[in-house]
Amino acid sequence: MSKILVTGGAGFIGSHTVVELQEAGYDVVVLDNLCNSSEKSLERVAKITGKEVPFYKADILDRDALEDIFSKEDISAVIHFAGLKAVGESVQKPWEYYENNIAGTLTLVDVMRKHNCKNIIFSSSATVYGNPAFIPITEECPKGQCTNPYGWTKSMLEQILSDIQKADNEWNVILLRYFNPIGAHKSGTIGENPSGIPNNLMPYITQVAVGKRDHLNVFGNDYDTHDGTGVRDYIHVVDLALGHVKALKKIEENAGLKIYNLGTGQGYSVLDIVKNFEEANGVKIPYEIEGRRPGDIATCYADPSLAKKELGWEAQYGIKEMCRDSWNWQRNNPNGYDD
Ligand code: NAD
Ligand code: UFG
Repeated sequence: MSKILVTGGAGFIGSHTVVELQEAGYDVVVLDNLCNSSEKSLERVAKITGKEVPFYKADILDRDALEDIFSKEDISAVIHFAGLKAVGESVQKPWEYYENNIAGTLTLVDVMRKHNCKNIIFSSSATVYGNPAFIPITEECPKGQCTNPYGWTKSMLEQILSDIQKADNEWNVILLRYFNPIGAHKSGTIGENPSGIPNNLMPYITQVAVGKRDHLNVFGNDYDTHDGTGVRDYIHVVDLALGHVKALKKIEENAGLKIYNLGTGQGYSVLDIVKNFEEANGVKIPYEIEGRRPGDIATCYADPSLAKKELGWEAQYGIKEMCRDSWNWQRNNPNGYDD
């Protein structure tokens, strides 16, 4: 049986996607250089699914390693998560971000086509909309100005992969624009494991809850939103993972080039999240209002109806379940995958 190569499969979204792929009966191979993850996530995936997860510790920039994998394994499609994703770091280290994300993807795609594997699902982001022209954001919404090199790598890679598909229609390219993934697998054994001080809201909240941080800094309460704090479309990572299984089915129908938003269509403010987290888990989250974070926008949420229509995918989990599962993971693993 042919296999699905999951690059970045040891990471947060990748590990959850490997679970859902294996549960759906796919044969999966993972490639990851572990620069932002631990191999333990894959051991835990194997415990959840009862199936081994074949793993190559390799870099997408390493052509020889990729050649080796594609020669040994019969890969029919690639789900491409591997990439650097810290917005602030990308401003400090633009070269590293362009090199890793763009040169890495070009190398991967070149090896894929040499091995006649022309099916790819790419992890894109709502960040490509910049400050969105309209809300809720449909896929028709024009792409905007990104505020950091990380965002530009997503926007540029969308363009690159689209051009490759247009030039050779044997390619099937699905660009998935994720909104804000949070939550964790219900087992509480895999989850988000940021190194250092978390950049994103939910991991920061769970670290406050577990006592690692004193309080949450709320970045701005003077936005034009219902309570002045930023509004986002939070989506349970398991729903996001299931979106990839549906996208793979679409690839099997020779989809050509497709772009889908993966979000719930619901916007929640920072203070809504704090309140829901407190209610779902019975834990208090002290917070202080700070100034706005540079580059942030007021409101960002999806119109996810295209994914429903064309993929038959729709988010199942609500905000309470997202808060519950994020906390369940953090509480059971206060130091993430470190013992
Ligand atoms: P993550 O850091 O947990 O996972 C990314 C994985 O890629 C890590 O395991 C890392 O070790 C690996 N990796 C990075 N560079 C590599 C390289 N050169 N070779 C091999 N492996 C490499 O991040 P995540 O949250 O799971 O995100 C997965 C993908 O989704 C990323 O491309 C990210 O940009 C994108 N995305 C994430 C979010 C989010 O909020 N988490 C939102 C939109 C898009
Ligand atoms: N926020 C705080 N305090 C924090 C962290 C975040 O108030 O400590 C606020 C932000 O100002 C924003 C909201 O919480 O209003 C969400 O912030 P995140 O950093 O969690 O998420 P972003 O929407 O800024 O960005 C995330 C990813 C991007 C991705 C985007 C896709 O970090 O990589 O979602 O929508 F592109």
